[in-house]
Parts: sequence; C-alpha cells; structure tokens
Amino acid sequence: MTVPLLDLHQQHESLMPQIRQAFDEVARSGQFILGRYVETFEQQFAEYLGVKHAVGVSSGTDALLAAMMAMGIGPGDEVVTTAFTFFATAGSIARVGATPVFVDINPRTYNIEAKDIEGAITDKTKAIMPVHLYGLSANMDPIMKTAEAHGLKVIEDAAQAAGARCLGRPVGSIGDVGCFSFYPTKNLAGMGDGGACTTNDDELAQKLREIRNHGADRADHFPVVGGNFRLDGLQAAVLSIKLPHLDRWCDQRREHADLYGKELEELAITTPFESHDRHHVYNQYTVRVRGKGMRDGLRHHLSACGIGSRVYYPAPLHRQPCFTHLGYDPGSLPFAEEASEQVLSLPAFPEMSVQQQDEVINCVRDFFLAE
Ligand SMILES: Cc1ncc(COP(=O)(O)O)c(C=O)c1O
Repeated sequence: MTVPLLDLHQQHESLMPQIRQAFDEVARSGQFILGRYVETFEQQFAEYLGVKHAVGVSSGTDALLAAMMAMGIGPGDEVVTTAFTFFATAGSIARVGATPVFVDINPRTYNIEAKDIEGAITDKTKAIMPVHLYGLSANMDPIMKTAEAHGLKVIEDAAQAAGARCLGRPVGSIGDVGCFSFYPTKNLAGMGDGGACTTNDDELAQKLREIRNHGADRADHFPVVGGNFRLDGLQAAVLSIKLPHLDRWCDQRREHADLYGKELEELAITTPFESHDRHHVYNQYTVRVRGKGMRDGLRHHLSACGIGSRVYYPAPLHRQPCFTHLGYDPGSLPFAEEASEQVLSLPAFPEMSVQQQDEVINCVRDFFLAE
C-alpha cells in the first residue's frame, strides 16, 4: 500500500459538487479579482479567528510583504525572526529592504522564544516575526510582552497554522497582524495560491487593502506604492467552502498525531511537542531522528515502502547563499542547524486511513528494529 505525504484527492472529491457550483457562479458573476466572493471569505475568516479584519491577498508570501509595507518597514530596519522556517519568512523581510535578524529555535518546539528574541533586539529593530512552525503556535505571551517592552510590532507568520491556538486564542489574532497562506499543502488550502492578513487594527487593515491594490486609496489615486497582491474570486469561493471543515480536518490530524505518539514512543525518535496550552494542528507531523545518517536512512526506507515523507527544512536560512553577507558562521545557530539534519515529516493528512497509518507505523518500526 502506498501512502503519500499528502492526498488532496479525497478532500476534493467530497467537496467537488459544491466547488463546481461555486466555479459556475463565479464565472457567471465576472467577480474574478477581489469583489463579493473575496469579501464574503474575508468576513468568514475574520469571524473564525475572532478578529476585526481579514484582508485576502495573493499568497502567504505577499501577506508578509504587505504587512511589512503597511507598517512602513524598509531599508535600515531589522526584523527578528527564526532561522528555521520556509524561505518566504526571511525572503519577504529582505524584499522590503530590511534585514532579517535570525535567532535560534527552541530545539523541542522548533519555534523561537522571547528570551532569544530579546538578545537580538537593537535600536534598528522594528518588528518580531515568529513562525508557528508545522502548525504549533510559538509561545506568544512572552513574545508579546517583549514586543511591548521595546515598542515593536509583531507579525505572526501563521502560514502553516490555520486553526492553531495559543492559550485558547487563534494564531493570527494575537500579534499586530497575522499572515496566512492558502497554498494547496496548507490545512486551509485553495486550489492555487492565496493568503490573508488578519488584524484588529482598523488603520492597518485599511493600509493593507490599499497596498494589495498598488497602494490605491481610490480609483487612480496612489498615496503610496503597493503591489498586485489581490486574491481572486475563485480561490475565495473554494476557501469559503472549505473553512467550515477546517476544525474537523485539524482534529483528524491531531488524532493521527496521537496515534503516532503512542505507537512510536518506544523508538529512538522524538515525536512533536504537545502542550495543553497550545493547540497543535499538525500541518506537518515532524519527528526528530538522531544519529548520523539515521534520518536519511529512515527516509529512504519509507520511500522503499512507498511512503511519502519530506524534510522541512534541510538548510536553515542563516546558511542560505543569499544571506551569506549577514555573516552567520556554521555553528552560530546550533539548534536550527541540528534540526535541519534530523527532522522528517510523516504523512498526517486528515483523510489518511487507519490502514495507511498502520503501514507508516510498521515501516518506521521495521527501520528501527532492524538497526
Ligand atoms: C512558514 C511559511 N511562511 C510563508 C509561506 C509562504 O506562503 P505562500 O507559499 O502562500 O507564499 C509559507 C508557505 O509555504 C510557509 O510555510
């Protein structure tokens, strides 16, 4: 039996009649870019998160860019973030002309912590950008306190964490702005690119709406330079259909995580961090495998069994060629470097069957018991 890392077919199969109908409606309406389908989704997503505003944008990357542009972050400014994340987090900081300042991760949660952020703050720092990696919220209360103490903005990179919560509060509703991705691998996924910025700040929301549309505050009038970061109606219509299922899908991922946790417990593997105050939504179910060559060995073994897995992420961002000029030497952020050599994500998509999960568990067991 093969088990892909992610299988969207089943999810789409059950929703296809609704999605086809929505495509027909959007096509007939001609509301292809922004317009009423986007507005409806924005209202639904804001309500889901309990925030005042959701601003639909073209991708998670553009959500981060738009957020920083709306806050006036640019050349000469620093944004403190994690070295262990998808490239877009730091790429967006560099694209607005600011400097990403990388801090190391907590090796257990893979997220950055307030105490490390504190040490990276300078008089050029304008914002903190924590990432809720794999669907686990960063420890937000201390981060918010640090930001407040230093007068900094907090931009949550919630791209992987729609549905996650920290002390009962949805991620994306805690910082000054939350940035979401609806890329097809995400827990709430469009059928193409899409994203959203979320905020309780009326002024920031207005700026975001302008910036996603070239900076226009009304037709043909551009007080600032923005971009084309608009969400389209077809994506919004799909997202409106999927949003009511998000919590159930997250719960299914959590059930898979629970079973993995029990079944893999006695193996030489570290399963993900779970804590009662953080509702993990397992966009990735990521284990850590210590020992030279062991992670890659497990990956090859899984692949030989027809099981999908993936390394998120094989190189931390401070060691990427485009950031060499920032001067981070090998060993400068040791936990991020070590994680990139040891992490492996296993299938945990909501519709994964019991048989499929058994197959993964047995294959992982075989690998360790054969050692
Ligand atoms: C942590 C993180 N930030 C940002 C992004 C960028 O999102 P998108 O691919 O929608 O541009 C992603 C998505 O892959 C991500 O995982």
